[in-house]
Amino acid sequence: MIPFLDVQQLNARFESVFKNVFADFLNAGQCILGNKLMQFENEFAEYCGTKHCVGVASGLDAITLLCKGYIELGKLKVGDEVLVSANTYIASILGLINAGLIPVLVEPNENEFIISVENIEKQITTKIKMILAVHLYGELADMKEINVLAKKHGLLVIEDAAQAHGAVDVNGVKAGNLSDGGAFSFYPSKNLGALGDGGAITTNNQELFAIVQKLRNYGASEKYKNDIKGVNSRLDELQAAFLSIKLKQLDADNNKRRVLAKYYFEHINNNKITLPSYNVSDSHVFHVFVIKCKSRNELQKYLLNNEIQTVIHYPIPPHKQKALKEYGYLKLPITEQIHDEVLSLPISPIQTISATKKIVSILNKF
Ligand SMILES: Cc1ncc(COP(=O)(O)O)c(C=O)c1O
Repeated sequence: MIPFLDVQQLNARFESVFKNVFADFLNAGQCILGNKLMQFENEFAEYCGTKHCVGVASGLDAITLLCKGYIELGKLKVGDEVLVSANTYIASILGLINAGLIPVLVEPNENEFIISVENIEKQITTKIKMILAVHLYGELADMKEINVLAKKHGLLVIEDAAQAHGAVDVNGVKAGNLSDGGAFSFYPSKNLGALGDGGAITTNNQELFAIVQKLRNYGASEKYKNDIKGVNSRLDELQAAFLSIKLKQLDADNNKRRVLAKYYFEHINNNKITLPSYNVSDSHVFHVFVIKCKSRNELQKYLLNNEIQTVIHYPIPPHKQKALKEYGYLKLPITEQIHDEVLSLPISPIQTISATKKIVSILNKF
């Protein structure tokens, strides 16, 4: 069987270093908010090119705390509306709701998975105060155009970079540094994945940095001195230590993903299959490689019968989820069609070219 993603093997590459780090961690006796977290935060900020990074418990919390930070600073208020892609993982939307904001869903362009700038412009009203741009599947949203629109209308912009660690725009600026604040997830299957849950916020804004640092730790400025109503959402020391090690490998891993993606682009040749759009730049880190097929479910079964595991990202769009029934009345044909047709092929930094060749040859016979 060719697995969709073998997390055990991905991490096996670091086994001996992880063991040394664990021994260090046991010796140091610091479990929460220690030196290893601070070191990772500095390294990740430097990697993204931002002034600051705050490690939090998950990608969902990173989005929520960014928004709550802006509410604390008086730049947003509860009930403000935020434009967000309708075609995303539900966490993007839940992060806004958790902070008391109101998501307004925006369709992508046809044949693209990321938010449509044209549709953003159409949906801007006086109630809209922010845009949450999602770099879905590892591809940067059109941040240049989004930032121009935001400036014109006086809106904040934040990025959901949970799937786009290391994606870089034409000017060499990385995901997480293309807006007022970036939210990252280190869920184990992400391009930079921990050995458990984790997340981070990146920003160049000193005030926002200071407020989210408090928010993630009970609103405390120092131990037992609570300035605001915060939560417990700290990236833990051990995960931070593992992430520091894996961060060194991130660019090489992203390049390997691009090599496999290139192979798929050059060799998949089947008129039942639509390949993703790609501008051959480093703005895509291929967190997943997503094709479209009208008979997607049959294709998935066929691949499984041929020992190829695939995943659907995602089978049900957020506005059709029971949890978001207040959005159930919406008709979002492009998003709905995407959810009916997408299939993610295996792509990972440890996947061999021979496995990739096998996938292509079986796909081409469908
Ligand atoms: C686009 C997107 N946003 C947010 C999240 C939330 O991250 P987490 O699972 O770490 O809370 C994820 C990942 O699961 C994601 O894919």
